[in-house]
Amino acid sequence: MKKYIFISFLLLLIIIVVLIFNQNKVDIKPKTYKSDLVEVNYPLFNNTKIDNYIWDYLNEKITNEKNLFIDYDYLINKSNISLTFYTYSKEGNVLKTSKKDLVIDTKKSKISVEDKKKIEDNNLIDNINKRSTKLIALTFDDGPSYNTSRLIDILNKYNAKATFFVVGSRLKDNAKVLKKIKDSGMEIGNHTYSHKLLTKLSEDKINEEFSKTDNLVYEFTGKKPSIVRPSYGSVNKRIKKLADRPIIIWDIDTLDWKHHNSSYISNNVLNKAKDGDIVLMHDIYTATVNAVELLVPKLMNEGYQLVTVSELFYYKNITLEKGNVYGSAHK
Ligand code: NI
Repeated sequence: MKKYIFISFLLLLIIIVVLIFNQNKVDIKPKTYKSDLVEVNYPLFNNTKIDNYIWDYLNEKITNEKNLFIDYDYLINKSNISLTFYTYSKEGNVLKTSKKDLVIDTKKSKISVEDKKKIEDNNLIDNINKRSTKLIALTFDDGPSYNTSRLIDILNKYNAKATFFVVGSRLKDNAKVLKKIKDSGMEIGNHTYSHKLLTKLSEDKINEEFSKTDNLVYEFTGKKPSIVRPSYGSVNKRIKKLADRPIIIWDIDTLDWKHHNSSYISNNVLNKAKDGDIVLMHDIYTATVNAVELLVPKLMNEGYQLVTVSELFYYKNITLEKGNVYGSAHK
């Protein structure tokens, strides 16, 4: 009899522990609302009260707006989640940006507006001249976007280089940013024209996806991209042949499109980073740019030099060959 009492007690304890842990777990899903005028990225909490609050907040912004882009970044604290919405809107030729922080208590389903706190500047580099022996290539796909210019400023501040796999259809609207990428010594790669899944397209259409982007990059920077990353990283024999250049994929996937959480993205890279890695990120998300701001000085402190993809292979004495697929520069 005593045995049964003990087992029941144990079971009860397990149930309580599981309940407590599940309560703290939040399942935040990335969502996008897109129309001709606006693009809004927002998190879905699967909590009616919170989701309604967020939707009302966003709805107020969307009304009557043109050229509006909203994005977010969040931080999970012990008792709450602090969610920041970044709003970018373009009027005439001027880009206006604003920022709003919400504090969300998922347990109590409560939301409040956070007092503006000064962002701590903990990005000081201990020893910027430390001789780097390790190399890493950050790569940014799917841009240029409202976020790209700030990203380049951050990279420039640390004299870090990176590679941008640009989407051709975004280039006309972002020609200035594309030039800024090039003028800052960053590398530009071809990421197709319309970001379609190439494996489903005809040979002519695949050629068009590459050549239209080549021509636009050439028009705005005077140089054609010498590397390619097919949309979704999907490659087959036909794509290898038509790319007519080295194909660059990655070996560290930050999943930034899913997380929109800058400290998570930054830590994820720091935990996995090795000499010769290629990191996949997207310069269309604000949380990614915030993550880079955290990440770059930390990588440098660990002795990494941040280089472009072509530099990475050059320094590793690996010759990139047409039609070959490269996910890292490990030997
Ligand atoms: Ni992409």
